[in-house]
Amino acid sequence: MAMFSDEIRTMDDLFVHQLEDVYYAEHQIEKALPEMMEKATDTELKRGLKAHLAETKRQIKRLDQVFKKLDQEPKGTECPAIDGIIEEANDVAGEIEDKEVLDAALIAAAQAVEHYEITRYGTLVAWAKQLGRKDVATLLTETLKEEVATDKKLTAMAKKSANPKAARKAPPRRSPARGGSSRGGAKPAKSNGRRGRAAA
Ligand SMILES: [Fe+2]
Ligand SMILES: [Fe+2]
Repeated sequence: MAMFSDEIRTMDDLFVHQLEDVYYAEHQIEKALPEMMEKATDTELKRGLKAHLAETKRQIKRLDQVFKKLDQEPKGTECPAIDGIIEEANDVAGEIEDKEVLDAALIAAAQAVEHYEITRYGTLVAWAKQLGRKDVATLLTETLKEEVATDKKLTAMAKKSANPKAARKAPPRRSPARGGSSRGGAKPAKSNGRRGRAAA
């Protein structure tokens, strides 16, 4: 992770570095989406993930164009942030048996990915404009809009169907203490249940 290496001296270097970061991220997402599609049960969610996989492939091609415009060789630089988001998604999914709860988790994971992309592309668009590359900014804005649209679709899916379906499956064992420390709480503690009881 050569975050502050000598290679980044100017804003142009920084811009290319960020491009390489998102190029790597898009490739990781391209690899992760088929697995998410396979795990998803809801047909609308499956379809949505499939559509976004196709879109992701087009976004990679768009990044190739951006590199070309900048006379740079398209390449990725390792991005531990996206690796972490994907790894966490896989870990959580691996712990969920119930298909509808899993759908809700998959949407949340996909949204974490989208939000990551939105922050990266948002920055890239601003930097491209700052560096006087409106042509590049225009291309990156197209992708940014797609990521925002995907995020909105996922929110709609979650609210309309996945979350209510998953919530209906709440196990009776935790019913007396609603709103307590069980599932869905905002605390960034260790994942629910299991360990909490034994602690002081
Ligand atoms: Fe993307
Ligand atoms: Fe995306």
